[in-house]
Amino acid sequence: MADSLLLPSLEIVQGLLQTPAHIAPKYFYDSVGSALFEQITRLPEYYPTRTERQIMAEHGGAIAQQVGAGATVIELGAGSCEKAKDLCQLLAPTHFVAVDISTEFLHDAVAQLRVALPGVDVRALAADLTADFALPHDLPQQRRLLFYPGSSIGNFDPAQALELLQRLRGLIDTDGALLIGVDLLKDQGILDAAYNDAAGVTAAFNLNVLSHVNRLIGADFELSQWRHRAFFNALESRIEMHLQARVDSVVHWPGGERRFARDESIHTENSYKYRADDFVQLLARAGFARTQVWSDDHAWFALFLARP
Ligand code: AVI
Repeated sequence: MADSLLLPSLEIVQGLLQTPAHIAPKYFYDSVGSALFEQITRLPEYYPTRTERQIMAEHGGAIAQQVGAGATVIELGAGSCEKAKDLCQLLAPTHFVAVDISTEFLHDAVAQLRVALPGVDVRALAADLTADFALPHDLPQQRRLLFYPGSSIGNFDPAQALELLQRLRGLIDTDGALLIGVDLLKDQGILDAAYNDAAGVTAAFNLNVLSHVNRLIGADFELSQWRHRAFFNALESRIEMHLQARVDSVVHWPGGERRFARDESIHTENSYKYRADDFVQLLARAGFARTQVWSDDHAWFALFLARP
């Protein structure tokens, strides 16, 4: 059975019992984690969000021209819906659906969006993108634009990314499109700094996953016994985030336990960095044959508008 089809507690326990142990990155996003991620997006070292916004500001008109007014926009991993507001003002869609795993955060964001976008049918859908999910039955099938910003696709390994893109292709007809933001491969120093910010927000975000896991499975992780570790793995073209044990410890949960030696790690996230050409090829393999690309002056980040 695929990990994503397991109950959260079973999936987490299985991950903790493996060597090396791992926790899926989707468990970062409880309400504290979602708020910390919002802080990350404003950090000076974390260039992806502001670079994507710059590309949008510069090329949004061209993108809107390609998409046309009156589409149904579906944002995947919508979070605070901050980008959605700008996009909807640009695209003038009839419908907007915010899809996110964090329901608390999502409902607040959608309530605000309804006020900001009168005349647009705005909805929230709580769904885990790592599993199959269905869109509301009464949502128009024609001219769907899937909007997947922020390089969240980078948090899937390439095989999972292909599988997700194929599923996304299945949600649209031939008149639909996918607008996806992707972080590009660049100087290692810039990458390392983006995941090791001086203010320690990324460290807090990484450590918070243990509080969430404590609540989800009744575990007794002691956060002060763990340290944040993030580095670029050039061979795999990805940033890796880990939590490293400061001391020998035993973590318990109802029905189980796991011993961790000092310096042993729990792998919590990968963030793949693509070459633009490779990502165009990945899109083609997923059934998106026609792709346009917009990037920033440094070619740090790119927006791909991909059509079947
Ligand atoms: C959500 N995702 C694209 C972020 C990233 O850059 O991979 C998550 C993140 N992890 C640490 N900082 C940000």
